[in-house]
Parts: sequence; C-alpha cells; structure tokens
Amino acid sequence: MVGALMKTPEFANKLITHEKDIEYFNDFSAPLMELIHSTHYTNINSTIAFFGPMLYFFVRSIGAEQVLEIGHAEGYTSWYLANAVKDNATRFQMAGNKYHGIDIIGQKPSMVEGFEKHNLPSDIRCMDSMDLTPETFGKTFDVIFQDGNHDTEHVIKEFETMWPALKEGGKGYWLMHDVMGPAEDGYKAIRQLIKDGKYNAEYVAIDCVYGLGIIRKMDNFDLNASHWSE
Ligand SMILES: C[S@@+](CC[C@H](N)C(=O)[O-])C[C@H]1O[C@@H](n2cnc3c(N)ncnc32)[C@H](O)[C@@H]1O
Repeated sequence: MVGALMKTPEFANKLITHEKDIEYFNDFSAPLMELIHSTHYTNINSTIAFFGPMLYFFVRSIGAEQVLEIGHAEGYTSWYLANAVKDNATRFQMAGNKYHGIDIIGQKPSMVEGFEKHNLPSDIRCMDSMDLTPETFGKTFDVIFQDGNHDTEHVIKEFETMWPALKEGGKGYWLMHDVMGPAEDGYKAIRQLIKDGKYNAEYVAIDCVYGLGIIRKMDNFDLNASHWSE
C-alpha cells in the first residue's frame, strides 16, 4: 500500500492509498495510462506509476539497443524497458537488442513467466551491484537505469563502476530514480564530480514524485556534427 501526495490545492495534503495500487485509477481515471498499464497489471506502486511508460517512451525515442537496470525488483519497470528494446528491434531490425537486469533478490516466477510469454529479449541475473564491473556484460549500454540500493555508497560506486560501460558521443544515458528522496545525496555527489570535471556529462533532474535524474555521457560528442538521423 503506497501513498502519493497530490499537487492541486484540493488534494495538497491528502494521502492516496490503495490496497492494490492499480486501484488508483478508480479514483483518478486516465484512460491512456490505464490502457498502457493493462498490458502488465501488477501491483503498481503509485510512486512509480508514470515511470514505466515514461521509460518505455524514452528508450523508444532514442532507439536504444542495450539497457541495464540495477534493481529490477518484481519487474515493473523492467517490463517497460524490455518491451521498448524489443519494439526497437522490430522497428529498426536490430537483432541483438536486449534488456539486462540485476537484483539481489533474483527473479520472481511471475516476472520469468511474463518475460517468456512475451519473448522479451533479456539477461536477468541475481547479482549484487557491488560485484559489477564495466565488463560484466561485455557490451556498452544506451541506458543504465539505477534503482537499487539508494544509499550514497551504492549510488556512487555503481555510477563510477558502470560509467565506462555507457555509450559515448551523447548516446548513453544514466537514469537515476529517487533523486529527490532516498538517492538525493548520491545524485548531488555525482553532480559535484561532473562539475569538478571528472566526468563529461549533461544532467537534469525531473521534479516528480521522488524525482528522476538524467545524466547524458558527452565524451566524444561532436557539437558541430549533424544530429539528424537518416
Ligand atoms: C526500488 S526497488 C526497484 C524497483 C524497480 N526498478 C521497479 O521500479 O519496478 C529496489 C531493488 O533494488 C534491489 N537491490 C538493493 N540493493 C541491491 C544491490 N546491492 N544490488 C542489486 N540490487 C539491489 C532490491 O532488492 C530491490 O528489489
């Protein structure tokens, strides 16, 4: 059961809670969102109600091939990330597209079943992020979505370890959940590292429930090149 604070004056301080979070839509109808969520009717968490679809469209819009999620939990955001790389593969005939996920809890049977049923290309491992190296997956990523342990030690270690495994040239994005909440200190520390010149990156934090940080790797980015895709 999860609560969300609404921003309108009427709901400013009202805590919205439901036994099963999908029931949120009974109170706040949003037909398009409901349609999207109907493909994956889990116990969505109202702090992340928009993140799944948002991640799906983000991954679609950049035509990502390889995505890594640190902390897949029960597979809510994973569902959208994996569908996005699969749909990109279909659209652009990219054979090797894959979703990669790690979590210390391993996979829930419902997650395995859903991924198998929908033929989602994936490599999901029971693994501690502290054991990651840039070579763990033998590839570079378009997107790394960081949503595991949000304490500063984990956030920084994961970022510093996996940054080399992110694509260069403005094509690699490090997405961080909870940058206005549990992971705030880690996000601030990463921003400081960027300001200090240790990493060449652009960043922004989206001010939504718990916040989403977007850090774009700018190594070897050619500002003068045409960025139109053919
Ligand atoms: C907030 S949940 C992730 C939610 C998921 N991304 C979603 O939106 O559906 C955090 C997850 O990180 C996992 N986790 C915590 N510490 C970890 C670590 N050191 N390595 C890998 N996963 C970890 C937890 O087991 C938990 O499932």
